[in-house]
Order: sequence, then structure tokens, then C-alpha cells
Amino acid sequence: MPHIPPEVIEEIKQVANIVDIISEYLPLKKVGKNYVALCPFHQEDTPSFTVSEEKQIFHCFGCGTGGNVFTFLMKYKQCSFYEAVEEVAERYGINLSRFKFSPEETAAYERRQKLYTVNQLAAEFFHHYLLHAPEAKVARDYLAKRGIGKDTIISYTLGFAPSKWDALVRYLQQKGMDLSLGAEVGLLVEKERGGFYDRFRQRVIFPIFDQKGRVIAFGGRVLDDSLPKYINSPETPIYKKGYSLYGAHVAREWCQREQTVMLVEGYFDLLSLHAAGIKNVVASLGTALTQAQARILKNLAPRVIVMYDADAAGQKAAIRTLAVLLPLDLSVDVLLLPEGDDPDSFVQREGKEAFLRYLHQAQPLLDWYLKQGEERTRSDLEARFTFLKEAMEIISLLKNPLKQEYYKDKICAMFGMERPTLDRLSQKQDPDNIFTEMAVLEEELPVFERRLVKFLLHCPEYLGHFSLEELLLEIKHPILRALLQKMFALYTKHQRLETDMLIAELDEVSRGLVSAWLMEEMPEDPEEVAQGFLFLLQKRRLKRLSEQIKEAEKAGNWEKLTTLLRQKNELACAFKRC
Ligand code: CTP
Ligand code: MN
Repeated sequence: MPHIPPEVIEEIKQVANIVDIISEYLPLKKVGKNYVALCPFHQEDTPSFTVSEEKQIFHCFGCGTGGNVFTFLMKYKQCSFYEAVEEVAERYGINLSRFKFSPEETAAYERRQKLYTVNQLAAEFFHHYLLHAPEAKVARDYLAKRGIGKDTIISYTLGFAPSKWDALVRYLQQKGMDLSLGAEVGLLVEKERGGFYDRFRQRVIFPIFDQKGRVIAFGGRVLDDSLPKYINSPETPIYKKGYSLYGAHVAREWCQREQTVMLVEGYFDLLSLHAAGIKNVVASLGTALTQAQARILKNLAPRVIVMYDADAAGQKAAIRTLAVLLPLDLSVDVLLLPEGDDPDSFVQREGKEAFLRYLHQAQPLLDWYLKQGEERTRSDLEARFTFLKEAMEIISLLKNPLKQEYYKDKICAMFGMERPTLDRLSQKQDPDNIFTEMAVLEEELPVFERRLVKFLLHCPEYLGHFSLEELLLEIKHPILRALLQKMFALYTKHQRLETDMLIAELDEVSRGLVSAWLMEEMPEDPEEVAQGFLFLLQKRRLKRLSEQIKEAEKAGNWEKLTTLLRQKNELACAFKRC
């Protein structure tokens, strides 16, 4: 991710207006000084989402979410900070490209380009070897036996790694590549006594491509039953697990045509389907589906059919995808395969036509989830309530309120419940609600500490009158301490504190707290309030010193006593002056 220098953010902030930006997404209505709308981050009937033009922040009094223009975009569009900045910059005609890379970033960028090159060369090497080497006949036979023909081999650039320890080493050398690059992407392993050897040997190779068609990693399968069955590239500067889906580069056009993407677990599930002519398929490679992968799915098609193995683990994994897919407003179906099958074994045995017929049995994953939950918990009331709570949480992820209603009614019918009971059940839960966390937090914060920090947030120009060290003697709550430290750090760095920027650096709970406080009215006479706090702080310090003096006397620690008395004296003098 390119780094954006603070001066660029500064430039953007000077021209950007949070009201303009949010207006593009929500119909804002002016009420008094602020603007309000129905909150996009939770369900509500009356607007509690509030935007302050003056402070350039937003806060929802319903769910506690708050932040500045960038955090709004990040949350609303599920995008990165960089993308949010980019969008705002673009809207105001600020060209970001000239700021994109620092020299270190350029160096890192160039190194990454070389890593892609090494991967590309290796993929070509393995692929060529699989297609043409006499020694690769075992692999060609193996793939043929599993129904994978030349078309599929070529579409996915499948390969075979020679059994030698230095086949790839030599190839990369011959291509003039620095072998340490090969080690960095996990294709080579560095020997203790120097030199390198091939990590992938005598394995079918599956290059993993990113969205742009670059090779970012490899998987390799043995030809027999030996272990480990698969080895995979480690995480590298160009490969993070959970950020790609296997086969997406090939599936794209087919997904667009079908308006559907099939999600399977393994390499061979995908390859078998492809070989059978079913090509709108991607594979999660046996890991739990992540948010990033869900966004790739969303980019491929509006409908996902989850097709995990028929075993218990596969079903659990399928259910887990709900929480990731529903918030993206994807239509999610599940295809339950016959006991003991995975998509690969099914399509190999039954053929394409039978598979397509069977595909009609795909059903909304949420419906199946409710059905199995109902059946599973019939004789266990405790489990039934746990399930219902979980189900209500999942349903609350549905973007469409009508669908939410539909499913709530459906649950009532299935479980023989009345709506009010179900609604009460779901009110008590909500572990992730920031607002409840905030309310608890607000209550547990000592009044003095809360008022003081709130004042400094409203009037950060007074930060210079206070010393962080002294404040930390008084402010005990960890959240407020962390907040103060951050405030002072920014203030020292920039000689001033911009609260809308501070807000972007906080975690979600502190952010909600701070945006709520900032929405309150400013003190009318900040000077007076500041003096009041300074006075109180000194008084408290005097009291603390007196206590310490008593202790030192009791302990007979005369040296300490002298220091303390002197401190008290100085403080008392200063006290009289003001
Ligand atoms: N996997 C892995 N390492 C393993 C086992 C599995 O990385 N030791 C990943 C692979 O991406 C694999 C997927 O998890 O494709 C699913 O695992 P599994 O169902 O065991 O393998 P299959 O894809 O069914 O492979 P095969 O049919 O050849 O046994
Ligand atoms: Mn399999």
C-alpha cells in the first residue's frame, strides 16, 4: 500500500468537506448546525446518524459509530485507508500519483516486481516440464487418471517439479536471476553451508495467480499417498494467505456470463469441474473464507454457490461463510453433495450432465442453515436458544430489511415461536455493538477524568498548558491514558491537534466515544475552564505530596522528606501566585 505523506492529507483536508462526501451516499438533512440521516451502519427508523460540518466528523447516536471523512468511506465502502483518501482526492481534483512512492517504497516496489518475475519464470519452467519432459509422463498420467486433460493444464498453467534437488536452481541461474529472490518467494531453500535447493520436487504444481494474472504463490501435490499431500508457498511480500482465491483469473469471464460463482475447497474440485466444462469456479484452498476473499467473490458475480465437502467439517465451513458473505449483499446458495463426496469425486463419477442436474438442488444457504439448526436442537433447549441467538445475529447481517423480516417470520414458523419472543431474544445479545460497549465505558470512566479529557478534545489549543506526565498521575483509566498519550504525541509532532485526524487513528470504541463527545457543545469560556482544571490538578498534586510527606515521616526517610517538602513549598508558592 503506498504511503501517503501527511502534507498530502493536509492538502486534501483543506478542501474536502465531509458533508459533500457523505451527501453522495446518504440523503443528509440539515438540523440546526448539524446534518442527520438514517444510519447506514445499523437498522433504524429515526435518524441518529449526525454529521458536523464544523468539526468535520460524524457520529451515530444509535450505534455509536463515528469518525472522519476517511473512516466513513472505509466503513461504508469496506475499502482501505488509501482508497478512501484516493476517492476524496479525486473528487477535489488532487493528483495523488505524484506522492505515491518514497525512495524506500520505490526500492521495495522494484524488489516485489522481481519476485513476480521469479514466480513467473518458475511457473513457466514447471509447466513446460509437465507438458514436454519424458520424465514428466508419470505426472501427465496421474492428471489424466484424475480427468485433467491438456486444456485444463494449459488454462491453469499446471506444472510438474522435477525430482532433482537443483532443477529450478539451475534454471533460475541460467535466466540470470538472483537466487535469494527464489528463496524469498519460498521456491528455493537456503542451505546452511551456503547455496540453495529446490523446495518443490516430484510434485504436481499449481501456480496461484492474483486478480491481475500475476503468479503470487504455488501449491504442490504428491503423485501418491505419501505425506505431506500438499506443500504450499509460505507468506511472502507478494503473497498473503486469505487475500486471493485460486482460479479467479480464469473464472472471471465465466462468472460474468453465468452471474454465478461456485466456491469449492480444493484444487482438484476446481480442476475437475473445469475439465467437465464448468468454469465459473474458484477455490478457497481449504482455509476459512476471509473478508478479502468475499470481496473477490462479490466482484466476480452476485450469486455464490458454496460447494464444500459433504463432511461435518465442510458443512461447518459452509455455515461460517454466511457471516462473511451476507454483509456484502451477495446471494448465497449451498449445494449439499452426497455423503462422502467432494465436487471432484462427484463430477468424476457422475459426469457433467448429472452434475448440472444435481445443481438444481442448490438452496439458499441461510434456509438450509436454519433447517439443520432446527433439526439438530430439537431435544436440547439450551442448544436451541444458543442457535437462535446465533441465527439472529446472522440475520442481522442481511442488508435488505425486508429479507430480515422474512427470515425472522420464517424462524418463528419453524421454531413455533411468537415474534415478540424472538425479538426479545435478539435484543439482549449483540456482543459487537459499540454503543453498548461505549455506554458501559462512559459509566465506568471517573467523572473528573472524563471531563478533563473531553475538554482537551474540544479545545486542543490548551494542550500546551498541561503536561502529559502530570496528567498521567491523575488520569487512571487505560482508555483515557492511551487517548491522552496519542493526543500529546500528535500535538508535539504537529504543534497542534486536529481532532478529526486523531479520530482516524483510534480503535472503534475510542472513536465512538470521542466522536460522541465532540458532538457535544463546546465550553463557552475555555480559558476559564482550563484555569479551573489546572487549579484542580495542582490541588490534587499538593494533596498527593502531603500524603507522601506523611509516609516519609513515618518511615523516617529524611532524604526523601526534604525533597518532598521542597517540592511542596515550590508548588504552594506557585499556587499563591495564580
Ligand atoms: N490442503 C493443503 N494442505 C494439506 C491438505 C489440504 O494445503 N495438507 C488444501 C489444498 O489446497 C487442498 C484443499 O486444502 O486442495 C482441500 O484439501 P483436501 O480435500 O484434503 O484435498 P483435495 O483438494 O480433495 O485433494 P485430493 O482430491 O487430491 O485429495
Ligand atoms: Mn479431493
